[in-house]
Parts: sequence; structure tokens; C-alpha cells
Amino acid sequence: MTEPVLEVSGLQTHFFTRAGVAKAVDGVDFTLKRGEIMGLVGESGSGKSITGFSLIGLVDPPGRIVGGSIRFKGEELVGKSEETWRQLRGARIAMIFQDPMMTLNPVLRIDTQMIEAIRAHRKVSDREARARCVEALGKVGIPSPHERLTAYPHQFSGGMRQRVAIAIALLHDPDLIIADEPTTALDVTIQAQILHEMKKLARETGTALIWITHDLAVVAGLADQVSVMYGGRIVEQGTTATIVERPRHPYTRGLIDSVPSHNARGVPLRQIRGMAPSLLDMPEGCPFRPRCPNASARCREEPENREIAPGHRLRCFHAVEPEPAVR
Ligand SMILES: Nc1ncnc2c1ncn2[C@@H]1O[C@H](COP(=O)(O)OP(=O)(O)OP(=O)(O)O)[C@@H](O)[C@H]1O
Ligand SMILES: [Mg+2]
Repeated sequence: MTEPVLEVSGLQTHFFTRAGVAKAVDGVDFTLKRGEIMGLVGESGSGKSITGFSLIGLVDPPGRIVGGSIRFKGEELVGKSEETWRQLRGARIAMIFQDPMMTLNPVLRIDTQMIEAIRAHRKVSDREARARCVEALGKVGIPSPHERLTAYPHQFSGGMRQRVAIAIALLHDPDLIIADEPTTALDVTIQAQILHEMKKLARETGTALIWITHDLAVVAGLADQVSVMYGGRIVEQGTTATIVERPRHPYTRGLIDSVPSHNARGVPLRQIRGMAPSLLDMPEGCPFRPRCPNASARCREEPENREIAPGHRLRCFHAVEPEPAVR
């Protein structure tokens, strides 16, 4: 019970390309307990998806995990065979993608796909499998799941298709779900409903959840803890309240100041200056240095990951003052 579901330490996933080595994930550490929700936040290209793919054994050449450890319920997964990964995938660890059609096959009925997903890991009767499908569709808020089971993916709206993909992820009561921007393409009311249902599910079933997004506002209402990624590293990590209300990394502060808020109407939004670095041409030392308002010569050295308060970790020499963000 007290054992963490997932302990990731020093994880490195690199891509060996003709143009050089892209260190997409370069030293990622975090721990997740049962039923806990972690938001993994950062700009495009910061390494969020590759972190997710690494955790489910889906990194393809020219990429590979070159360092660190992924302990899942006490078992080391780095270096495990494809067969081991296949058994874990879908059953114990599931992933939900931004595009539900990454999970769904357009030419097969929903029941066919769901039953196949169940039978990939378990021997069950047709009746039992169907009951399980109806239950899973009900859990994600699909009305009349019995009738909907025989529909094809195109007969569902985008939001409903994403719910079906989530239902497939839930079929085996996984210990861990990695959700990679699954609500980004949906309108805000549907997004809010799905977030609400996922939170409830994590609480009720004890499934740990990693929610990948570029949108801090999404994780603010969902996650227990937040990890902020930049240039392949987690630069700040803490409880959601800490990260949102008392961020210490200049990058986190920049992200928060660039989120529109109701109580700051009329105040121009602040932007983080400059562009995210190319992974093939990373600045030495702190990757955020060229864009950072606080950078000094010292930042040419890599700041280490240190715990500045219980549960609050930071990689920065020049932490911003911990007063609440302006917005
Ligand atoms: N097949 C590949 N070959 C070479 N480099 C790759 C490959 N896949 C990913 N990368 C590198 O890994 C980096 C991180 O990619 P990743 O998909 O994890 O970003 P992300 O944070 O999920 O961004 P987004 O918000 O746009 O989804 C990319 O910027 C790219 O340089
Ligand atoms: Mg991504």
C-alpha cells in the first residue's frame, strides 16, 4: 500500500540521429503513489511525450533509454524484454493519446475492439467481456453504453471517441495511466467533464495518473503534484498548490504569468521571451539560461536538482521570490 506505484530516477532517453544526439529526456525523476495524479507540464518539444513513451516501453529507434531507472511496483523495467513490456502494456500500464484514433481502429465496431483488448490479456467468455465493456463505457460517461457498443468510431463525436479510448485504457484496471494531452482537441466543457471523471476514477480505483499537457491551467484543477519540464529535464516539482501559488523556477513563473486569469482582466499577458532550444543545440549548463531574466555566469554550470522544502524540488541557482504570482 505504501510502496510507490512508480519510481523514476535519472531517466535518459536519447535519439541518435544523423544530425547528432537529441537528449529528449535527460535526467527525469519522480515518484507516484496509488491514486495520485501528476501533471507533466512544459512547452512543445520539452520531452513530455518521450517521457511517457519511455514509461510504457514505446520508444522506437533511433531513440532508446540510455540511463536511469523505472521501477514499477518495485520491479525494474529498464532493460526488460519486449515480451515483458507487451504484457504490462494495456493491462498494468495504459496510455491515452491526444488523438483517440491512435487507439481506435476506424473499420471495426467498438465492441470488437474492446473485446479484443480484453482477450489480449485475459481469457473470458463473450458475455463477461461484454459486461466489462459496458461497465468501462459507463465509467467514462457514455450514455446507453449497451446500445453504443455496436457502433463504429465514426458514429461518435470527437469527445465521445476520446471517452471510448479512455474506456479501453480502463478495461484491465491498470495501476498506471499515462494520458498524453487527451483533451487538447476537445472543447472546454467536454474537457472539464473528462478531467472530472478521470480524477474521480483515480480516487476510486487507486489508478495512478500522469497527465501530460502544455496547459498549466488544466493540471491546476486535476493534479496532486506537478512536474515542470524544460529541455528534457524536470526543472521544478512540487504539490500543485506549491507550483501554482509559489513557483520558484523562473520558467515555471513565466508559464504561470502567461496563463490568462479572470482576476487580472485588462492586464497584458506576460510572455516568456525567446524560443525553446533545439535539442541538438542545447546551451551548456541550465537549458533555460538564454531565456531567463535571472541568468548569470554561474548558470553555465548545470544546476543540480535540490529539495528546497519538503516535496519541493528545483533545478536553479536563482530561484524567484516565493510570493504569489501576479496573475
Ligand atoms: N524520432 C525522433 N527522432 C529524433 N528526435 C526525436 C524523435 N522523437 C522525438 N525527438 C526529439 O524529442 C524532443 C521531445 O519530443 P516530445 O515529443 O517528447 O515533446 P513534447 O514535450 O511532447 O512536445 P509537444 O508538446 O509538442 O507534444 C523533440 O523536440 C525532438 O527533438
Ligand atoms: Mg507531446
